[in-house]
Amino acid sequence: MGERAGDQAGEVAALRLGLDLGLTLIDTAEMYADGGAERIVGEAIAGRRDEVFLVSKVYPHHGSRRGVVAACERSLARLDTDRLDLYLLHWRGDIALSETVAGFEQLREAGRIRAWGVSNFDRSDMEELLALPGGEHCAANQVLYHLNCRGIEWDLLPFCRRRGIAVMAYSPFDEGRLLRARALAGLAQRAGATPAQLALAWLLAQPGVAAIPKAGSADHMRENRLAVSVDLRPALRDEIDRSFPPPKRASPLKMI
Ligand SMILES: NC(=O)c1ccc[n+]([C@@H]2O[C@H](COP(=O)([O-])OP(=O)(O)OC[C@H]3O[C@@H](n4cnc5c(N)ncnc54)[C@H](OP(=O)(O)O)[C@@H]3O)[C@@H](O)[C@H]2O)c1
Repeated sequence: MGERAGDQAGEVAALRLGLDLGLTLIDTAEMYADGGAERIVGEAIAGRRDEVFLVSKVYPHHGSRRGVVAACERSLARLDTDRLDLYLLHWRGDIALSETVAGFEQLREAGRIRAWGVSNFDRSDMEELLALPGGEHCAANQVLYHLNCRGIEWDLLPFCRRRGIAVMAYSPFDEGRLLRARALAGLAQRAGATPAQLALAWLLAQPGVAAIPKAGSADHMRENRLAVSVDLRPALRDEIDRSFPPPKRASPLKMI
């Protein structure tokens, strides 16, 4: 969002519709459209800040203690708010994690963020992070997770669950590609749902997992909202597992 001027009114309207429908988590990042996405979100949540669980992300190259604090202040200005609910390190970079954690903790103590976490962290990165002073405050790990990409179920997802760290599934439709899978269409039809609704319902049924689909139109927003009503019976889950199998061995975390 925020990439093309002509799309912006529709994007703001889609986000506001999402809030009207009770979808409260909005995920953005300083990287997206070079700050443009945060401006769109700021416009959409104007006057409705308390309805939103607001998430943004810091570039790894802003990951020093002072860099994190400065980047957060710029994000807050673009979002036109005084706080983030969750602030994530977008992916692991070259700056020592202890620096980033120190910046996050400073922001948390100042009330500029309510919680912090990471994104695109594999199991070994998480272990390193959690061993640092303050690392135990990591609240979330945002990773690529969808029906065609279930590798985290082997190790990372159970690890995060054991430690009470929320997993946020990004690109839940594989950027739209998953929705064209023939197997998904058949399963969705049997569930009385659309492919997007089934893909989301399956993710939301995983304990400790939140999903953050991107929907730029009112129609998609309405359709996705109804995913919570899809009845995922055990027989359907088994069929899903046959078409989109869980991992049989460890594999490195994939990222976009
Ligand atoms: N942490 C990270 O490194 C990272 C990386 C990638 C993404 N993310 C986050 O994850 C979010 C979602 O990921 P994403 O945008 O990459 O991919 P996605 O959510 O998997 O797919 C988005 C695509 O699906 C379409 N779509 C949405 N609802 C639909 C529906 N009901 N029927 C048909 N098509 C539908 C969208 O079209 P319309 O726009 O036309 O609705 C868009 O083209 C991003 O917005 C971002 O916040 C995080």
